[in-house]
Amino acid sequence: MRDHGSAFAQRGETLLDVSALRADTPGCDSVIHFNNAGCGLIPRPALRAMHDHLDLEAGIGGYEASAARAEEVHDFYAAVADLLGCGPHNVAFAGSATHAYSKALSAIAFEPGDVILTTRNDFISNQIAFLSLRRRHGVEVVHAPDLPGGAGVDVEAMAALMRARRPRLVAATHVPTNSGLVQPVAEIGRHCRELDLLYMVDACQSAGQLPLDVTEIGCDLLTATCRKFLRGPRGSGFLYVSDRVLRAGYEPLFIDMYGARWVEPGAYRPVETAARFEEWEFPYATLLGCAAAVRYALQVGLDPISHRTPALGDRLRDLLAAVPGVRVLDRGPRPAALVTFAVSGWEAEPFKRALDAHRINSALSLREFAQYDFADKDVVWALRLSPHYYNTEEEVDQVAAVVADLVTHPPSRR
Ligand SMILES: Cc1ncc(COP(=O)(O)O)c(C=O)c1O
Repeated sequence: MRDHGSAFAQRGETLLDVSALRADTPGCDSVIHFNNAGCGLIPRPALRAMHDHLDLEAGIGGYEASAARAEEVHDFYAAVADLLGCGPHNVAFAGSATHAYSKALSAIAFEPGDVILTTRNDFISNQIAFLSLRRRHGVEVVHAPDLPGGAGVDVEAMAALMRARRPRLVAATHVPTNSGLVQPVAEIGRHCRELDLLYMVDACQSAGQLPLDVTEIGCDLLTATCRKFLRGPRGSGFLYVSDRVLRAGYEPLFIDMYGARWVEPGAYRPVETAARFEEWEFPYATLLGCAAAVRYALQVGLDPISHRTPALGDRLRDLLAAVPGVRVLDRGPRPAALVTFAVSGWEAEPFKRALDAHRINSALSLREFAQYDFADKDVVWALRLSPHYYNTEEEVDQVAAVVADLVTHPPSRR
């Protein structure tokens, strides 16, 4: 990896060598990529790690290639451990954040009447999984209320529900997919630790954007993808499993020959580490790309990243808020770089296509992604723009100007 010696944070002020970071990012030449909450642009070192491994697989054989790269493969676990403040043995690779999440959920022996306590802003697929558990196992899904004005979950009310209902699982999404809200996951975690409740955090949108420390958060399980703000390849993610959970013997419902030893015809024994949540087959090129992407994020530095990335989001939000016909939807005191807004005069798809035509990458958030949040905000769709540290202030200004022009000249007036 190239040395980003000029990347540093001083007196709370963030200075990154954005030109060098952009030179490391081939996609910057072609698009204004404001869809990092969908999938970040891959930096060259991650790309190279994957190309090299595919070449090696083609050259010497797939099994032989992974054996030859055993050290680098191990570094995936070490890199994610450095990112999260845990040990490599607490980390499992997964094919996606959802894969990691459902594997973890499958390890909990839910019984009828068990309570899952969550928030009104948890990720759509997590909410569907909870409803599926309700349908199959008769669990009760309880949503903690939000603070007045929708500025995130009311932690005190959530803690009261923890004490009253003793949930089998407390689940919180750090940053939802549908807004820049940052939920107070460490405050929730403090209550979970006090009450000794199982706590799972979805850090899919915060990994690579905000510093994460699993001890500070107090979670037992944490899931994320590598492809978003961590800028790794698609088809990758990870699961953190605490020592507490490993010791307590949690294991996924479908555990395979990698996660367990078949010790005698009628018995198996799960392995000691989070590898019990993995399977035998791995996309090794992808895993090595993830290792390089996580190392890259660590080298750029999560402190400077977490200053610059949300600051670009704030700049964009301020510019958009000044445009008549735009309603910025993000709430909470210090939003992350997921900027969501509703516009008048446009339907969802044509509006996104109009941005595509300017080579501005964006994403749509639909009502079904956020049944509670979008009902509260009274919107059926929103556009999501998500810059990252390698984007520039000029790009932010350009995107805001394009949005302003589109909203001022909707299709009906063209
Ligand atoms: C908050 C959140 N959690 C989970 C996911 C699911 O991630 P994956 O697509 O890797 O399963 C997403 C994806 O957008 C997300 O935004």
